[in-house]
Amino acid sequence: MSEFPTISRSKSLYKHAGELIPGHTQLLGRRASQFANGVSPIYASHAKGSRFVDIDGNVYLDWVNAVSAVILGHADDVVDKAVKEQIDRGSIYTINSALEVDLAEELINTIPSAEMVRYTKAGGEACALAARIVRGTTGKDIILFCGYHGWHDWYQSANYLVDPESGEFPFAGIEPIGVPRVLAGTAVPFLYGDLNMLEDLLKRHKGEVAAVMMEPMRSEVPPDGYLENVKVLTHQHNAFLVFDEVSSGWRIRIGGVQEYLGVTPDMTVLAKCMTNGYPMGAVVGSRKVMEPASRMFISSSYWSDNIGLTAALTTIRELKRRDSENRFNEIGEGYRVAMNDAITSSGLSGGCIGHYVCPAIKLDIPDKFILKANTLYIQEMSKRGIHTRLGINATLAHTEKDIQQTCQAAAESFEVIKKGLDKGNLDDLLAVDLKSESFRRLVR
Ligand SMILES: Cc1ncc(COP(=O)(O)O)c(C=O)c1O
Repeated sequence: MSEFPTISRSKSLYKHAGELIPGHTQLLGRRASQFANGVSPIYASHAKGSRFVDIDGNVYLDWVNAVSAVILGHADDVVDKAVKEQIDRGSIYTINSALEVDLAEELINTIPSAEMVRYTKAGGEACALAARIVRGTTGKDIILFCGYHGWHDWYQSANYLVDPESGEFPFAGIEPIGVPRVLAGTAVPFLYGDLNMLEDLLKRHKGEVAAVMMEPMRSEVPPDGYLENVKVLTHQHNAFLVFDEVSSGWRIRIGGVQEYLGVTPDMTVLAKCMTNGYPMGAVVGSRKVMEPASRMFISSSYWSDNIGLTAALTTIRELKRRDSENRFNEIGEGYRVAMNDAITSSGLSGGCIGHYVCPAIKLDIPDKFILKANTLYIQEMSKRGIHTRLGINATLAHTEKDIQQTCQAAAESFEVIKKGLDKGNLDDLLAVDLKSESFRRLVR
């Protein structure tokens, strides 16, 4: 295989960005260190469908898709046309837009837990809004949580506590610098699947828990009855159950994991995907939990901008029209079969695991090689024009041909890894530093 793609423009812009922007980027997942730093593309110039072009002119097949925010495909013609037409009519008005009510109706007809709706511009912000409402509605301060819920103080304060699993911070490597210490103990993590732990926490904080907030599922279907039991326990302690469906929503079912698994929470947080990438988030829930928000100070200028509202209405309707649920099943299962063939053909052992909405490669290799093999995989895939991690987020724009192209590149990349492993040395094959590990989410 020939040389790595030239990414000199990306590299020098990233260096310059480091002088102007603390941390280089706005999202941890967009830092160069999250990929094969020095080989993977860092800045994009344009994107369409399942592909993007970087500022050096290289074309990549994209399996990251704006950390899953893009669901129909980049620059979708239908959504973008609706947005452009809306821009011509005004992107934000002085008074209210009827689109707010239209979208509320669409969400109420789509998400099982939705009877009332509020909007935001992002997922973490929507989680913070949910936290405010459940605390305001119950008059209680503690939130028990399981999953990733953004960057805001209410949640990051949990990093002052001891991780139940490892004794480290709940999010290994992330210290709550800048988060008020007085919030310590107001957001408490529990482990997914551990009902005893949840029950103990509810008992320990009797009368103080406003809500249990959790990602209901990521890549594995929970054991039978788990979410039902979480709901029962939560309600026994007069707390609200909140599902954070920012990541799980839309691909598995348009009504979310709650529709797929048949467990309806009191409140749901939505964001990514609902607009095919335009900034938008929402908190929806029962009248009982949501209505008191009318008496709380929850107010922001841009929450009613017409772009997000139009993009959300169009994206949700397009998902329904394009039979997205079946299509994501086909794409995910097609990818899994082809990826398993690629692993087998390389002589490595392992498989493509997890639910079809977020299948991930898991190689059976010694622990000491895992991060190296992960980085090497990303490096070798970048070299072959595929921007990916071990787990993928497909869009409706991904075709069978895209899957074949990806798995052909993966077979070659696995062969490189296999050769290195056979020699007991992956270092000589790595042209980059090891990628950074991402934060842990408590939910698999
Ligand atoms: C489950 C979940 N909640 C909240 C967030 C935060 O969303 P945002 O990055 O839009 O603030 C994310 C982002 O990855 C998420 O996956």
